[in-house]
Amino acid sequence: MSKNIFATKSVAHLIRESESGENGLKRTLSATNLTMLGIGAIIGAGIFVLTGTAAANAAGPAIVLSFIVAGLGCLFAGLCYAEFASMIPIAGSAYTYGYATLGEFVAWIIGWDLILEYLFGAATVAVGWSGNFVSLLNSLGISVPVAIASAPLAYDGSSFAFTGSYINLPAVLLILVMTCLLVVGIQESARFNNLVVVIKIAIVLLVIAFGFRYVDAANWEPFIPAREILPDGGARYGWQGIIQGAAIVFFSYIGFDAVSTAAQEAKNPQRDMPVGMLMSLGICTLLYVLMSLVLTGLTSYSNLNVPDPVLVALEAAGPALKWLYFFTGIGAVAGLASVVLVMLMGQPRIFFAMSRDGLLPSLFGKVHHKYKTPYVTTIVSGVIAAIVAGIFPIGLLGELVSIGTLLAFVIVCGGIIVLRYRSPHLHRPFRTPFVPLVPLLGILICGYMMLNLGFDTWLRLIIWMAIGVLVYLFYGRHHSKLRNSAEGKDPVPLP
Ligand code: ALA
Repeated sequence: MSKNIFATKSVAHLIRESESGENGLKRTLSATNLTMLGIGAIIGAGIFVLTGTAAANAAGPAIVLSFIVAGLGCLFAGLCYAEFASMIPIAGSAYTYGYATLGEFVAWIIGWDLILEYLFGAATVAVGWSGNFVSLLNSLGISVPVAIASAPLAYDGSSFAFTGSYINLPAVLLILVMTCLLVVGIQESARFNNLVVVIKIAIVLLVIAFGFRYVDAANWEPFIPAREILPDGGARYGWQGIIQGAAIVFFSYIGFDAVSTAAQEAKNPQRDMPVGMLMSLGICTLLYVLMSLVLTGLTSYSNLNVPDPVLVALEAAGPALKWLYFFTGIGAVAGLASVVLVMLMGQPRIFFAMSRDGLLPSLFGKVHHKYKTPYVTTIVSGVIAAIVAGIFPIGLLGELVSIGTLLAFVIVCGGIIVLRYRSPHLHRPFRTPFVPLVPLLGILICGYMMLNLGFDTWLRLIIWMAIGVLVYLFYGRHHSKLRNSAEGKDPVPLP
């Protein structure tokens, strides 16, 4: 057994499979679509919500540096993703890369881990969307009863309690609407995403351009507040605070890798996948750095520990920026909706790839005869995400999504080093520069951000991965197509 669970799929075999047309997905996405999908997934709850908390509780105005650190970790991982995506341009993202390099078992582990990023990520952001949507309706004089717009469960760090609410209905409805859109077509979904991305970028640019005029540079002093020891023994600010801040705002970068899940629907994946991922990452990093400078320049960072830090920062500028309040609300609602859309696009395509390999039931590999989308996995992912979003509070989910994604990044960076060593002659339309330095730096920065996430988060990750191992042992191992075919072999030669 131990031999076969490390069996790899050759890159040539994976590409043949994708080219055979047996999967039936439609190649319609251009480089612009892919970049827009990346931005669609990236700009969301992170910048609109978490920036404030991270500045107030971890880094102060140096949250700008936290964004740069997290962005660098993502850039190094993104360069590794880009090499894989250009070399193995088929659905499944890191799961498929794992299959080609480290073997079936590791691939399964990555695939299972990616459920945290995509499915739980969609649910988390949908809960954040619900809060923003309800506030926007309130500002228009429409009130939504709390009993149907918040989580019925609360979590205080050690136990659950009932809140008296029934369901977070707006979050559930958003997920169901996005699921329907994704079933109807990837092209239709991309068009909707393009529209939303234009709206949210325009609003972020408005906040940056008009906010800068009212910045009071005194708010940036001291830029790195002195380290403080908290009563519970923890610490904040100082250089360590910058890393803590990076671990928090890392969430705001999650999503550029979602581009790679749509590889099988890209027109020219070998060229456009790296472009889509790296362009979206670059654009968003720039916007984040400018936005965090503006927010911490408009008001003292200590005022930003609120669910709507952008609004609080604009209010500090006095009545002059009042006209932006409503647009900020629209930006957050539109922004978070497209994150949910792209996350819900990514998850089914990973399940789809797992089913193709026999690690999930073959029903999951079905493609709709008319819409050419993986509709079974889309509906399954949507229904599960809707249930999670309808019941659980946001705090429980956020860090779990980050740690799961960071783990995937670390494995992908490791995979690049392994594959360069094992198969140096494979055709690589895009090559990660300075290997092994870049992947090693990716592992170091992402690994260090993981260490800065709480013990509880680690515990949940370990429990989640243990469940994944059991599912593999009781299902995947017995149904794996590779293990049941003559091709199963040790991970030595890749053509
Ligand atoms: N990057 C996405 C967000 O910030 C997950 O909402």
